[in-house]
Amino acid sequence: MEENKKRPLRKVSFSKTETVHILKYADINGADRLYGGTLLSWIDDIGALTAIRHAGMDVTTAAIDNLVFKKGAKKNDIIILTGRVTYVGSSSMEVRVDSYVEGFDGMRTPINRAYLTYVCIDENGTPVQVPFDIEIETESERAEYEAAKLRKKNRIYRRKEGF
Ligand SMILES: CC(C)(COP(=O)(O)OP(=O)(O)OC[C@H]1O[C@@H](n2cnc3c(N)ncnc32)[C@H](O)[C@@H]1OP(=O)(O)O)[C@@H](O)C(=O)NCCC(=O)NCCS
Repeated sequence: MEENKKRPLRKVSFSKTETVHILKYADINGADRLYGGTLLSWIDDIGALTAIRHAGMDVTTAAIDNLVFKKGAKKNDIIILTGRVTYVGSSSMEVRVDSYVEGFDGMRTPINRAYLTYVCIDENGTPVQVPFDIEIETESERAEYEAAKLRKKNRIYRRKEGF
């Protein structure tokens, strides 16, 4: 793979994505709460969409981490997911996905936050460079970017340890 080629930039706002779901019977577990596997599938969907929008090409999920279920949700709840790119490496991107329950007054209660790593791949599944680097515009984007660098270091360490 050709590395460290100077790439055009894309703003975080370019690929910011939001999805909305209403919890139905099929999404509920035996305890009458949102089934975690369903939420995980929605998280991976929006994460991949966000990464594809940033890269403008196909990606695959390499890792999902920091998946913390903070609160449950029940039937008929409105679930909002937001995705944004936090970091672009050579062939990989990190996406942060936040999930909320939205009340009728518009108030959002966080129920989950996850960080996912997507890798750009060619038609043979081989990693290729992300065509666009990230353009940081705000202090919070900068803070996320710096934290993402540490998370990437940890992932590399964990990978070496065999996780
Ligand atoms: C993800 C995948 C393409 C990486 O392939 P690889 O040959 O290990 O690639 P490399 O070692 O060259 O790493 C490529 C990039 O992926 C990142 N990466 C690889 N494994 C990773 C992991 N476990 N966690 C986080 N990032 C990872 C590397 O850090 C690197 O990023 P960079 O180029 O920005 O520095 C490969 O492991 C794969 O195809 N996995 C299956 C993906 C899949 O099927 N997903 C759907 C799950 S249902």
